[in-house]
Amino acid sequence: MKVPFLDLKAQYKSIGKKIKDRFEYIFENTAFILGPEVETFEKHFAEWIGVKYCLACNSGTSALHLALLANGIGKGDEVITVPNTFIATAEAISYTGAKPVFVDVDPDTLLMSPKQFEGAVTPKTKAVIPVHLFGQACDMAAINTIARANNIAVIEDACQAHGAEYAGQMLGSFGKAAAFSFYPGKNLGAYGEGGAMVTDDEQAYQRAKAFRDHGQTRKSEHTVIGYNYRMDSFQGAVLNVKLRSMKDYSNARRRHAQQYREQLSGLPIQLVDEENESKGVYHLFVIRTEHRDEMREYLGAMDIGTGIHYPKPVHLQKAYEHLEYRRGDFPVAEKAADEMVSLPMFPELTEDQVRYVCSCIRNFFKNNNADDLWIKTREEAVTV
Ligand SMILES: Cc1ncc(COP(=O)(O)O)c(C=O)c1O
Repeated sequence: MKVPFLDLKAQYKSIGKKIKDRFEYIFENTAFILGPEVETFEKHFAEWIGVKYCLACNSGTSALHLALLANGIGKGDEVITVPNTFIATAEAISYTGAKPVFVDVDPDTLLMSPKQFEGAVTPKTKAVIPVHLFGQACDMAAINTIARANNIAVIEDACQAHGAEYAGQMLGSFGKAAAFSFYPGKNLGAYGEGGAMVTDDEQAYQRAKAFRDHGQTRKSEHTVIGYNYRMDSFQGAVLNVKLRSMKDYSNARRRHAQQYREQLSGLPIQLVDEENESKGVYHLFVIRTEHRDEMREYLGAMDIGTGIHYPKPVHLQKAYEHLEYRRGDFPVAEKAADEMVSLPMFPELTEDQVRYVCSCIRNFFKNNNADDLWIKTREEAVTV
């Protein structure tokens, strides 16, 4: 059996006809940029998330940048986020001229630790970006309480968390603004680059809308120096088709996650916990083991695709060496980066495929003397 890490072809088979029909309509009408497909998507996506405004753009990175710009973040400001994220979270902060300030993550969820966030607040802190990594919700109650007390704007990085909830409320609706990515492999993926900023704040929406399109507030009236962050109509069309099935896609991912949890129990691996109030959407299903690299090699030989999200935390990347962080600054994120592996996860995965992955992981530990590994992991857990 072969189990790819991600298979986008299976989904295309089920929706390809509808998408081609919409593409045909775009070709006939030659409305290639923004246009009705994008506007329809913005309306439905905002309704789905439960916010007033959605501004579709050309990537999750642009959406983060727009969210920060729209909230007045710039030079001289500090923005707190986590080092175990895709580098785009930090890049968007840097684009504005503000300084990214990293804080360590919770050892169980691997998401922003509210306590660490609180400890990093300075008079220069203007925003915080909790990252709902893997499609799981950060502790939004605690983060929002700290942010409110310190007059800090919360910008959610929901690029991996389409449809995930915290305390029954959709992620993306907790802060001043939120950013989503529609990169093809995301839970809601376009057939090219795509992203969206969402907000309840009309002023922030209008500002972001101008920045998205060269600072235009009216045709040929450029009130600020903006960007070309527009979404093209084909992406709007794909997203309109897929948005209708998001509930089914998320439920399928949750079922696979549950099967993984059941069939991997008792092994010397660590699973990533969800916050009590989180109803995640499992963009990634991540497990941890000190034998990560050997295990990946073994799974690869068994025709199973895996990934690492992410192997090097942002504070240790060369691009950020000017911030002068060192290995050891964020021990939880650094240890996790050495141990994490993402297993195959996409809605169309079959029960048989998940069973095969789990049995191969079981075999890996059996061949490598699971008892020894288990005792070692337990001993280390006790001494930490
Ligand atoms: C957590 C996170 N933030 C930001 C981004 C950036 O999104 P994009 O690749 O659409 O620019 C991604 C996507 O990879 C992401 O996973």
